[in-house]
Amino acid sequence: MLEIELAGLKLRNPLVLASGILGSYASSLNRIARHAGAVVTKSVGLEFREGYRNPCVLNWRCGIINAVGLASPSAKDFAKELLNFKRGCPLIVSLYGSKPEDFAKLVDYFPIADAFELNLSCPHAKKLGLEVGRDPELVGEIVKIVKASTNKPVFAKLSFHMDIVEIGKVCEEAKADGVVAINTIRGMAIDIVSRKPVLSNVSGGISGEAIKPIALKCVWDLFEELSIPIIGCGGITNWRDVVEFILAGATAVQIGSALFYSRHIFKSLIESLESYLRIYGEDIQSLIGQAHKC
Ligand SMILES: Cc1cc2nc3c(=O)[nH]c(=O)nc-3n(C[C@H](O)[C@H](O)[C@H](O)COP(=O)(O)O)c2cc1C
Repeated sequence: MLEIELAGLKLRNPLVLASGILGSYASSLNRIARHAGAVVTKSVGLEFREGYRNPCVLNWRCGIINAVGLASPSAKDFAKELLNFKRGCPLIVSLYGSKPEDFAKLVDYFPIADAFELNLSCPHAKKLGLEVGRDPELVGEIVKIVKASTNKPVFAKLSFHMDIVEIGKVCEEAKADGVVAINTIRGMAIDIVSRKPVLSNVSGGISGEAIKPIALKCVWDLFEELSIPIIGCGGITNWRDVVEFILAGATAVQIGSALFYSRHIFKSLIESLESYLRIYGEDIQSLIGQAHKC
């Protein structure tokens, strides 16, 4: 009832752990892999990256604002850590780099991956993420070089802060197997006592409930123009959100910030989605993009 096929990967349900939420430890991925359809790792680059100093994550009313700054172990160390992944579900390794060759080299470190996600959208890291993803020519080259380096599915993670449909089309033309929409959206908070920005990096990316309608519209727009699968991400906190994203055109969805509020969110979403589908006697796959038919 909940099984889906995503670019050749068979997922037992469409619920995927979003990148970065649980840090860079295999033990956290193993815990979520007991229920999730697939898990995405925290984004990794070739070299160790310290990221920004604290405070770098802020719990805000309608979600989270973070400027972790793509902190990560080196690809070599992360590959070693991932040997502890118990393969409870497909593993998608998220990669970041500034040049096409960086992405190609990264692929070689992760024979353990079932698929790759390209971080072309982190809004708070200089010369990485969004700064790379906003350049259509560079995006095309990155997708092409990664596709030439692996036979595994490659998903490009996009941002609200770009012409998302234009970049989505570039990814499709370069033979990406799917796009992920969206990463966090730029924002900030100011401490009224110290009268300074709260985050050490001044601004960061907003995730959680606040961005859900924005992410949903990005999925909607991409579905109208693209033929490759779309993975919806942004502000999903309950089963109704999941259904909305799928009706808008997502084949699967990623869950991130909601884990900060409920460690059992995957299990409870599965139960609720099964009840919903039982009422209509339908499979989840048949709901994809249905809202466009009205
Ligand atoms: C603390 C934190 C760290 C994140 N790290 C990454 C990352 O390393 N790579 C990435 O592509 N997205 C990263 N994200 C973005 C999420 O994967 C996701 O796109 C975003 O949070 C929106 O989904 P949500 O509203 O369900 O959290 C991070 C988000 C948070 C809150």
